[in-house]
Amino acid sequence: MTGRSPATPGGTGSRAASAPGPEARRHAPATARNRAAIAEALQDWLPGKGSLLELASGTGEHALYLSARLPNIDWLPSEPDPDLRRSIEAYRLSDGGANLSAPLAVDVTAADWRLPETALPLTAMVCINMIHIAPWAAAEGLFAGAARYLAPGGGLFLYGPFKRGGAHTAPSNAAFDESLRARDPAWGVRDLEAVSDLARRAGLAPPLIREMPANNLSLWFARDADPKDGQ
Ligand SMILES: C[S@@+](CC[C@H](N)C(=O)[O-])C[C@H]1O[C@@H](n2cnc3c(N)ncnc32)[C@H](O)[C@@H]1O
Repeated sequence: MTGRSPATPGGTGSRAASAPGPEARRHAPATARNRAAIAEALQDWLPGKGSLLELASGTGEHALYLSARLPNIDWLPSEPDPDLRRSIEAYRLSDGGANLSAPLAVDVTAADWRLPETALPLTAMVCINMIHIAPWAAAEGLFAGAARYLAPGGGLFLYGPFKRGGAHTAPSNAAFDESLRARDPAWGVRDLEAVSDLARRAGLAPPLIREMPANNLSLWFARDADPKDGQ
């Protein structure tokens, strides 16, 4: 799949009529702090080429930065929020490389993500800082999507804070968890073991684990070349 396809962001409207200008770009400060370490982990773990779907792309700053460092990967950002899709598209139009596609409108809890046939099966999926800032159903939907769309030999990359053995790994993560639950009781820092169990049931291997700055983890859940059904 080619990044400069005429696909419209979110599949709505004509691109010429709705192309966002630079003022649509949003900024999430954390992306500048974590992107270099995330790029290193991806460079170590991703297959050398193929199509990659990023879920919950947010502002699009990760998509812009990471796709530039992985030029042989066709990077498809996605985001359910239309304003954020405009931000992603604005970054892509101003600075994106040939391997960065227009954003798709994917809600991971949907039964059908309506992905372009040209991108399937996916070589990889990437999801950064989402499953703790969404109900548990989003984690379930993410892994259900991995089971549906990932190619054998591919994998799912997850980044964020996690509990291990039922305990927080740092006081700052415990405080963050409390603040998340105060905003929405359905949110919260997830247990690595519970997430790994979802992965197992989706036919993915136990994760490779890398400790990251600020008490976060990067996880790589590989889909074996000869996948088992995981049940
Ligand atoms: C904290 S932001 C992280 C954005 C970006 N990945 C980053 O690290 O800057 C959480 C994102 O999850 C997205 N999100 C929440 N629920 C979702 C769902 N069900 N499916 C897909 N994305 C979702 C939100 O729209 C938001 O962009």
